[in-house]
Amino acid sequence: MGDDINAWNTAAAGMPMSARILDVNVRVNGEDVSAQVEARKTLVDFLREDLALTGTHIGCEHGVCGACTVLLDGAVVRGCLVLAVQCDGATVETIEGVSDSGTIADLQLAFQQRNALQCGYCTPGMLIGARELLARGGVPSRETIREHLSGNYCRCTGYQAIVDAIESVAQARAGAGK
Ligand code: FES
Ligand code: FES
Repeated sequence: MGDDINAWNTAAAGMPMSARILDVNVRVNGEDVSAQVEARKTLVDFLREDLALTGTHIGCEHGVCGACTVLLDGAVVRGCLVLAVQCDGATVETIEGVSDSGTIADLQLAFQQRNALQCGYCTPGMLIGARELLARGGVPSRETIREHLSGNYCRCTGYQAIVDAIESVAQARAGAGK
C-alpha cells in the first residue's frame, strides 16, 4: 500500500493538480457509476458537473452553509468537503435519490404547505438534514431542530417556517406510530 502511494506520488509529481485523473467507482442513487475525475474535484462538483445531479447546491464551498449536503454511506456529509475520489467504492445519495425513494414525501409537503422555502436554494440540504433528525424518532424540541440544522443556512425564510414544518412532520409521524 505504501509502495502504491509512493509510486502514485512519484508519477504525479510535477504534474499540475488538475492533470491528475483518477478512476472512481461509486454507487449514486442506486446506480453504479464509473468515471475518471480530477484528483482535486469535490464530490458536489462531480455530482453536478459529471452526473447532472444539480439538486445538490453549492454555496460557501468550505463546509459552512450546508447547501451541498448529501449522504455518503448513509452519513450526512458536506459535498464540498469530500473529494470525488474519496468516494471510490462508496454509496452516495443525493436529494434526487432521497426524493425518489418517497421517504421524505411528508417533509416535502410540509415545507410546501408551511412556506418553508422561498428561493429553495437551501432546501435540499435542509431536507436531508431534517430526514436525519427525524430518523431518530420521537418529537424533537424546537431547540433541538434548530440546533440540528444550525449548519444549514437559509437566507430567505428566517427559519421559523422550516422549524414549523419539521416539527409538524415529527408530530404526525409520532401520531401515526401510536
Ligand atoms: Fe458545502 Fe457550503 S457549499 S457547506
Ligand atoms: Fe432561499 Fe432558504 S429558501 S436560502
